[in-house]
Amino acid sequence: TQEKKKLAGMPKVELHLHLEGTLEPEMLLNLAENNSVSLPYRNVDAIRAAYRFADLQSFLNLYYLATQCLRKEQDFYSLTLAYLRHCRDENIAYTEMFFDPQTHLEHGVPLTVVMAGISAAQKEAEREWGVLSGLILCFERDRPAEGTIALLEEAERIGGIIGVGLDSAERDHPPGKFQETFAVARALGLHRVAHAGEEGPPEYITDALDTLFVERIDHGVRAIESPELLRRLREEQIPLTVCPFSNVSLGGFGSLQQHNVGRLLDAGLKVTINSDDPAYFGGYLTENIIATWEALGLSFEQAVQVQVNAIEGSFAEEQKKRDML
Ligand code: HPA
Ligand code: ZN
Repeated sequence: TQEKKKLAGMPKVELHLHLEGTLEPEMLLNLAENNSVSLPYRNVDAIRAAYRFADLQSFLNLYYLATQCLRKEQDFYSLTLAYLRHCRDENIAYTEMFFDPQTHLEHGVPLTVVMAGISAAQKEAEREWGVLSGLILCFERDRPAEGTIALLEEAERIGGIIGVGLDSAERDHPPGKFQETFAVARALGLHRVAHAGEEGPPEYITDALDTLFVERIDHGVRAIESPELLRRLREEQIPLTVCPFSNVSLGGFGSLQQHNVGRLLDAGLKVTINSDDPAYFGGYLTENIIATWEALGLSFEQAVQVQVNAIEGSFAEEQKKRDML
C-alpha cells in the first residue's frame, strides 16, 4: 500500500541495536573458520534452527557463543559496516549502537581493537553513505560491577563513545549495582541508558531512573504493570526503546498482535520502535515498524509519531535533530 511504502521510505532513527546482535549466520561461519573457532553448527540452516528461544537467557547463551568468533579489528569493522549498509538501504539516517566490551575482553580481545574496528566502519558509512551513528558502551549487569569504572575510563581515553548502557540477563540483576559507574559516566558528560522492564519488574525501571539517572529506558514494556510508573514516564516523557520482534522471540508476548506497544502509545508515552538483535529476531528496523503497525492496527500518524519520538529521544545534536524532523 501507499502508506506502507511511505513508512519504508521515510528517514528513520534507531536507538536500540546491539552490534553483536547483527551477526548474521553467513558472517558467523566465515569468522569461525578464519579465526579457527569451533562452533556446534556446521551450516547456516543449523544456526537458524537454533534461533528458537524460550526466554532472554536462552538467547544470550547463543549470542555470547557467537561473539567468540569476533577477534580482530577487521571482524568488528565488517560487522559494523554490514549493519550500517542495512541502515543505508532502509533509509536509517542515524543510529545509536550498543556493544558489549566485557565479553570481548574475556575472549582476549582488547578494547582498542574492538573500538578501532567499529570506529573505522562508522567513519566509512558517514563518508560513503551519509549514515550517521553513535556508539554506546554496555555493561553486562550479570557480571560484577568491579572493574567497570576502569573500563569506562579506558574507553574515554580511546574516545568515540557517546554514552553507557546496561544489558544482559535482567532477572535478579537490579540496576543499583552500577550506580557508581553511571555516576562516573555522568560526570564525564556521557549519556546514560539501561535495559529495564524487559523481563524484570517495573521497579527496575524506577531504579534505573533514580539510581543510574538514565535518560531513556531500553524495552520498558513491563511498565504497563504499574499505573504510577506509567504516569511518571508520560509526565517526564522518558523515551522507551521498544523492540517488538525481540519481545515476541523471547516469549515476552505470545505474538505481535498481543504486544503492548499500542497501549503504551495510547497512554501517551514517548515510545520508539527498534530491532535489538536483528540477525536473531527475524528482521531489521523497517520490518519491525511495518509488521508492528499492521499487527496492531496502528494509525499512520502513530507510526510517524514513533519516528518523531526516536529523533527527539536520540542523543544527536539539537541542530541535527531539527534537520531530521
Ligand atoms: N536484553 C538484554 N541484553 C541483551 C539484549 C536484550 O534484548 N540483546 C543483547 N543483549
Ligand atoms: Zn537490547
